[in-house]
Amino acid sequence: MPADFYEEEDFQGQFKGNVFKRILDLMRPHWPWVLGFLICVIIVSILDAYFTYLSKQIVDRGIVNKDINALQQILVNYGILILVQAAAVFGFVFLVGVLGERVRYDLRQSLFNHLQRLSLSYFSRTPVGWIMSRVTNDTERVAELVTWGVLDSTWGVINILTSVIFMLVIDWRLALIVIAILPFLFYVAVQFRKRILEQFRNVRKINSKITASYNENISGVRVVKALGREDENLREFGEQTSAMRKAGYRAAWLSALFLPSVQIISAVGLGGIIWYSGATVGSGTFSIGSLQAFITYMTSMLWPIQDVARVFAEMQRALASAERIFSLVDTTPEILDKPGAFDPGTIRGEIQFEHMYFWYEDELPVIKDLNLTIQHGETIALVGSTGGGKTTIVNLLCRFYEPKRGRILIGGHDYTDLSLQAIQSRIGVVLQTPHLFSGTIRENIAYGRLKASQQDIEAAAKLVGADHFIQRFEHGYDEQVGEGGVLLSVGQKQLISLARAVLSNPEIFIMDEATSSVDTLTESMIQKGMEAIMQDRTSIIIAHRLSTIKTAHRILVIEDGQIAEMGNHAELLKLKGKYYNLYTRQFRFEREDAYNIFKENNQANLSAG
Ligand code: UTP
Ligand code: MG
Repeated sequence: MPADFYEEEDFQGQFKGNVFKRILDLMRPHWPWVLGFLICVIIVSILDAYFTYLSKQIVDRGIVNKDINALQQILVNYGILILVQAAAVFGFVFLVGVLGERVRYDLRQSLFNHLQRLSLSYFSRTPVGWIMSRVTNDTERVAELVTWGVLDSTWGVINILTSVIFMLVIDWRLALIVIAILPFLFYVAVQFRKRILEQFRNVRKINSKITASYNENISGVRVVKALGREDENLREFGEQTSAMRKAGYRAAWLSALFLPSVQIISAVGLGGIIWYSGATVGSGTFSIGSLQAFITYMTSMLWPIQDVARVFAEMQRALASAERIFSLVDTTPEILDKPGAFDPGTIRGEIQFEHMYFWYEDELPVIKDLNLTIQHGETIALVGSTGGGKTTIVNLLCRFYEPKRGRILIGGHDYTDLSLQAIQSRIGVVLQTPHLFSGTIRENIAYGRLKASQQDIEAAAKLVGADHFIQRFEHGYDEQVGEGGVLLSVGQKQLISLARAVLSNPEIFIMDEATSSVDTLTESMIQKGMEAIMQDRTSIIIAHRLSTIKTAHRILVIEDGQIAEMGNHAELLKLKGKYYNLYTRQFRFEREDAYNIFKENNQANLSAG
């Protein structure tokens, strides 16, 4: 799903004062900047209006009256004020930039921080695209609102107000005509803006669909060709592009219509003013300068009106963005330290699962009444068909989730009495698809213990047998792994993850073995690496390799959230039950050949009989 998709959720409706207040709260820590920029904006817009007033004076006092002294005086004032205005313009542009950066930084920082604290269950429920869209598009839009939005509307409102005041001073009756037209102008401007925005949104929505189509067609090109779907896909694509063209056409049409409409309305106002001044010209109350000033005020007011209308139209979306950001910030992590949670200093010792039940969303148990005691230093292999609950058991032990019923004891303590930090900092996990962060190999290993020295890092790599292939890279430990480790093979990534786990020196080691096959050399290195870590540590391996399974002290066959069989390799084979089936089906074509199985069976049969 493209990230854009999640951006276009519709606003849920009524104005929320609460959201508005929280947006203002975002600006509070930076109030000196806000104050500074408001002052600058106010100076600029008052001066704008005043300049028009000065022009009137130049005409009426200087030119019409031929008063050179007055003209000079006005020009000097003009010059000084222009400088003041230039300084103020510089000030507000600069301050808005700084303010925007700060608000954006605050928002992203707090979102990042919060995301790190959220429980795993949140991430399995919430699409990554949705989260990314909050962090990128929504923070951007809120930052825009609190900076340029506030700036434009402050500038616009003050500009309109000062213009109106000056007009009232010059001729209050004429000013009333203008004031009567203003709401109408504003209404039309907002309506246009909203519709244009809607069309552009449509264009973007369709555009992200088109991008997705391209993406799927290119990455799935073999399937498309194999199924002869080219014509069908082309037709679907054609529909999307023509929808996009229509929306783009409507947007262009509305945009083109917008300015002339506003101009016509203001022209009607101007017509009224000229008609009035023509009618009163005989009485001499209305000068040429005044007429000129009115026309200037009227036409220059069109810009602030448009600006305010734009901010107003966009505000709804910015508020919706803010609402979504706050909803993310307000999500409380489901797994938190209990009050009084403590760190026992070590989690060595027995691990006990007592009548443990677990389910994800609905109340359909995924783990049912699990009872298990794991001795300190034991190596346990979990095997079983897909969806049985192996990963779930391991996630529960890591306390990424907590049991719904029953409990887990570590070293005799119910583990919910311990702090999360106490547990998670002492468990080393190697995932099925090991995750590397973009950076160097060295940095990725050091992720296990940030303060590790170079020697420690290399020693860890040597211990798991990763040193070998790392040395062969051009830059050795400083080789870049690419985003997510794309430049390395799966086996290499596993070895680096193993080195990372070794370096963190965990008290409990957990590994979800990769199902994808690696070459035999890497396989045996991984095996050696695992043996090195498993020494003197409680280890739980979700095993796919026969070699691991055979070295485990105990093998648990997990079926349907329960322990179906338990014992070591030889014992379980003898049972001729689920393990035996799994073994003959799944592992027979590995390094052990059918002959071995046959022999072992015979021996088992012999010793049983
Ligand atoms: P597991 O993911 O624990 O199974 O899911 P597994 O034994 O490790 O399977 P493989 O070998 O890796 O394939 C156990 C059950 O929990 C459900 C799954 O659909 C499965 O039925 N489940 C898992 C959820 O409902 N939500 C999740 O987030 C994860
Ligand atoms: Mg799994």
